[in-house]
Amino acid sequence: MNSNIITLALSKGRIFEETLPLLAAAGIEVAEDPEKTRKLILPTNRPDVRVVLVRASDVPTYVQHGGADIGVAGKDILIEHAASNGDNDGLFQPLDLNIAKCRMSVAVRADFDYEAAVKQGARIRVATKYTAIAREHFANKGVHVDLIKLYGSMELAPLTGLADAIVDLVSTGNTLKANHLVEVEQIMNISSRLVVNQASLKLKRDTIRALIQAFESAIPA
Ligand code: PRP
Repeated sequence: MNSNIITLALSKGRIFEETLPLLAAAGIEVAEDPEKTRKLILPTNRPDVRVVLVRASDVPTYVQHGGADIGVAGKDILIEHAASNGDNDGLFQPLDLNIAKCRMSVAVRADFDYEAAVKQGARIRVATKYTAIAREHFANKGVHVDLIKLYGSMELAPLTGLADAIVDLVSTGNTLKANHLVEVEQIMNISSRLVVNQASLKLKRDTIRALIQAFESAIPA
């Protein structure tokens, strides 16, 4: 890791867009639009700050192992990362940025009686990318589930008979509606957090503390 430069790991899409105002509060403007370039390292107006574009689920890995000094990651991603790595060691989480807000929910086909299946103690087949969150949720409810790991397009699983239910992120609810699924349970609210590499926090203390303060001052209500 270059000792003079701060590397910030972001994922494209909503997290990138909603982090821009926080960066602006720190006097940082990203020089290129990630939707219009194939570059993965984006310079900023500050010579000591650069952005790296990574998959959302890779942000904790980059920051934990020092590929980036700081990053922005959803609570969903952080929970799943800790579960599959045994911990979030070396990953300091100083701020809930209150951006990219959505919820983790259980959804089923409109013609599937979820309540009845739960009451009867039936085994429910649940497709999800978020296996740690789903496992814990159903264990706490005492519901037996067969988890089916998917990497995307979860909505398809109940429609094709692969699963009875899905655990997925819901924001506007439009994706569920378009696929004739209904939300039957909300598991938790999700927002994105600032994550900081512990070693970077010590070695680049002044710059990182200033960034944390600027971000904190601009967190949306
Ligand atoms: C998420 C989620 C749903 C959709 C929900 O996918 O998996 O498909 O957003 O949003 P809505 O309630 O506003 O319709 P995302 O676009 O983050 O991409 P993904 O395929 O990586 O899950």
